[in-house]
Amino acid sequence: SVPSLAYSDEFHQCLTEMIPSELVYGQSSSNFTDVLASSIKNPKFFTNTTVRPVCIVTPTNPWHVQAAVFCGRWHGVRLRVRSGGHDYEGLSYRSCQPEVFGVVDLSNLRSISVNQGDSTAWVDSGATIGELYYHIAKNNSQVAFPAGECPSIGVGGHFSGGGIGMLMRKYGLSVDKIVDAKVVTANGELLDRAGMGEDLFWAIRGGGGGNFGIVLSWKIQLVRVPPQVAVFSIPKTLEEGAIELLTKWQYIGPSLPNDLTIRAKVQGQQAVFLAVYLGTCSSLVPMMDRLFPELNMTNADCRSMTWLESVALSYGSLAKTGTLEEVLLARGSSLSYYTKIKSDYVQRPIASCSWKNIFAWFKKDGAGYIMLEPHGGFMRTVSAAATPYPHRKGVLYVIQYITFWQGDGGKAPTSWLASFYDFMGSYVSQNPRQAYVNFRDLDIGQNTVGSENDVSSFESGQVWGERYFMGNYRRLAAVKAAVDPNDYFRNEQSIPPLRQTL
Ligand code: FDA
Repeated sequence: SVPSLAYSDEFHQCLTEMIPSELVYGQSSSNFTDVLASSIKNPKFFTNTTVRPVCIVTPTNPWHVQAAVFCGRWHGVRLRVRSGGHDYEGLSYRSCQPEVFGVVDLSNLRSISVNQGDSTAWVDSGATIGELYYHIAKNNSQVAFPAGECPSIGVGGHFSGGGIGMLMRKYGLSVDKIVDAKVVTANGELLDRAGMGEDLFWAIRGGGGGNFGIVLSWKIQLVRVPPQVAVFSIPKTLEEGAIELLTKWQYIGPSLPNDLTIRAKVQGQQAVFLAVYLGTCSSLVPMMDRLFPELNMTNADCRSMTWLESVALSYGSLAKTGTLEEVLLARGSSLSYYTKIKSDYVQRPIASCSWKNIFAWFKKDGAGYIMLEPHGGFMRTVSAAATPYPHRKGVLYVIQYITFWQGDGGKAPTSWLASFYDFMGSYVSQNPRQAYVNFRDLDIGQNTVGSENDVSSFESGQVWGERYFMGNYRRLAAVKAAVDPNDYFRNEQSIPPLRQTL
């Protein structure tokens, strides 16, 4: 039941009656395309055939968000919410099927207020994680927050799905340090933790964005880091022992002291080991010599800097240029590279002979790269049901498969990715083959909507939902039934409402 375009006129009128009209962009507005494109990261979802919203609302206060939900409900138009626009499938601003929908773009709601006294902060969903890092640490280099590596990621989507990054082994995911939140529900109510109750508060911390309401802001517990951290990035070719090093890294990466995170990137015929250590070079060098001597890390490899600088430098490569502000506070679209991403979790180390076969894939046409991020440490102390993110004890590392290409989307090297992903099936978690919801991948399943009741089917969601959330999928679906039984916040991979009791 797709609402007709006539509905969308009434919807638009409702919005402009309740929200200042300069914050509402209909398709006929001259700024519509610019506002739509403003945070798109993948040109794949910005073509002539992309199903676009009928209008975009850019709220400047919580009431505008509530008003958008009221108008949407009254006129039968669904809303999608966008914070930073990094969704790998573009679900925050496009639909895979013909659909009349609006977008609530939270980029104007981005304030960050830090309470030094109890080391907490309130951060709005429209802030980026780079802005968050910058604001909490610019005047106090010993304060930090565990979240991802790309500074322009939006807080709203990122926190909704978990938030993995270089502080995860020490402090966990972003969602492990969230203590309160404000959400606008499908009824248009604005609720904090006490008002929403513990089930919904549990679900919004990792159950995926676009499911349970529009989260406006998050109260987070800040964490301590030393005034200086130590960083290295060491590339190794096959001739220099990349295979043996990766084989060993799988054992030690997840079991190193929590203060030390070494992630690995495999591209071409080379592996790069990038580390951030919450301590000094003078203690890191002997530690590496003891725990991972094969890497031959020396003082010359080690750079000492503030944690904030380490975030800016470890994003992409250590050679990244630009001031701290330029790197951390950058926003905007990036429409030059098409991308496709998939993910896996590894629970048993892959043997060195298999790594040899894996490296052969990186010689093929259209080869992308993989990023391996170690779990263990704090991550293994959290139970699989404590938050919706279930990939905790027993996970060695998460693999992110990344392909990117320029130019016509039709020439996509996605066949390399699909075949390589098939090949990797026997080395990674099985039954289910786990995936990370923030690395959204529509290949693993999409909802079907019941023609009688017009809600997404629990069974269709189970196909992809148990891969992202394992045993937590059912609880998420029960929460959905309690807070949004009519499935108002719906997309191709949203949690369906489960109407039975648990
Ligand atoms: P976007 O605005 O596109 O939203 C993503 C999803 O959340 C959509 O379904 C959207 O509707 C919903 N949503 C957004 N705001 C919401 C709100 N306020 N309330 C409810 N739902 C909301 N991840 C990671 O864990 N660690 C990492 O290091 C990285 N690195 C990385 C690099 C790059 C270049 C990209 C493109 C992505 C990552 N990611 C990542 C993945 C990232 O965490 C994921 O895409 C987030 O959902 C992005 O959040 P945004 O707000 O930017 O996206």
